[in-house]
Amino acid sequence: MAVLTGSCRRIKRSNCLVFFFEQGRIHCCNYLTDTQVESSPVLVALLAMLDRWRTPAEIERLLSGYSSASIQRTLHELKANTLVVEHGSEQAKRESELAPWDVWGVEARFFHFVTRNAYRGAPAVLDDASIDLALARSSPQPGQIKKYAGARQFLLPDITSRLDSEFPRVLLARRTHRCFAAGRLPLEKFSALVRLTWGITGKLRWPGLGKLPVKTSPSGGARNPLEAYVWALRVEGLPRGLYHYRADVNRLELMRRGASVARIARLCAGQEWIRNCAALFLMTAVLPRTMWRYRFSRAYRVVLLEAGHFCQTFCLAATWLGLAPFCTAALLDEEIEKELGLGGATECVLYAAGVGLQDDRLQAAAVRTNRRLNATPRRA
Ligand SMILES: Cc1cc2nc3c(=O)[nH]c(=O)nc-3n(C[C@H](O)[C@H](O)[C@H](O)COP(=O)(O)O)c2cc1C
Repeated sequence: MAVLTGSCRRIKRSNCLVFFFEQGRIHCCNYLTDTQVESSPVLVALLAMLDRWRTPAEIERLLSGYSSASIQRTLHELKANTLVVEHGSEQAKRESELAPWDVWGVEARFFHFVTRNAYRGAPAVLDDASIDLALARSSPQPGQIKKYAGARQFLLPDITSRLDSEFPRVLLARRTHRCFAAGRLPLEKFSALVRLTWGITGKLRWPGLGKLPVKTSPSGGARNPLEAYVWALRVEGLPRGLYHYRADVNRLELMRRGASVARIARLCAGQEWIRNCAALFLMTAVLPRTMWRYRFSRAYRVVLLEAGHFCQTFCLAATWLGLAPFCTAALLDEEIEKELGLGGATECVLYAAGVGLQDDRLQAAAVRTNRRLNATPRRA
């Protein structure tokens, strides 16, 4: 009784609930608070009633067939599991911040929020060979080449003679690096990398909207939702710290001096090798830029695809500069967003890309692999 009637606060059901069936049971998930509980038809009916702010007395009137004590017990439990929200509470405030997501429907916000803490309890070593071995033993991995048996085949012309120019050389040399040479990244290379990846390269006249910026990667509707932040760890002439890239003036804005590589590795789900990179870039999306124009859930995909474009541009630019790039989606989103001072409701982290100095020994091994790949294919 004390919990609800004591405070006399109004309550309603959370806006972030999704119900689904699994193994014959109803489950209820609050995707914002990362809570999942087993549910029942009675509970669904009760929550359906709590569709607007109601006082404890009102709820008791609506549930007149139940004892006051049992109503209070149930509501207390629902509140503890974040299925109902108290007016004015922190949870109510967080939920109201999600209002811009309404244009993308439940499906986009469910997927986004339910997956953002996926790495929180993940094992520190993600690429452990023993995990892969166990998987391969339990079932063979799916083939990675699709074939249409019996289909007529057309041999494509040999392109070997075209490979000996700069662009194909860069494409073929791109690899994910996880070991880096000691030393500092020259500021000029750092600058080229940032500018070529996130810099504004021109303006596009968009009917009805005036001039919109364009970059080296495409952006759905030229909405440019992505922002870049960087932890400069070993960059010549840049104090170690966290920066935001101002694309319009091609400058870095210092957000915080100093950076702990142990913390950064932790935020990348315990990938310890990241400690040795020279700079780690975090890509976030300012979602309302895309939501404003595209008011359907598929636009969420567009934003994710866009991050992939920028990351590939980053990796190719770094390769061209003779650097060692990598990317990682294994991120503790919520903690990273806190580091960046973001609430996560409208600007959220999507992807990270980093760079270090190349280790010549490892690079030689990568080149050997590429030579094998570049061999002229056998005739079909
Ligand atoms: C979306 C995405 C996420 C990735 N996340 C990680 C990661 O968390 N850690 C990592 O070491 N590599 C990560 N990678 C890199 C892949 O493991 C790598 O691309 C793959 O092993 C093939 O090697 P290559 O990039 O040299 O061609 C990721 C790649 C992509 C496309």
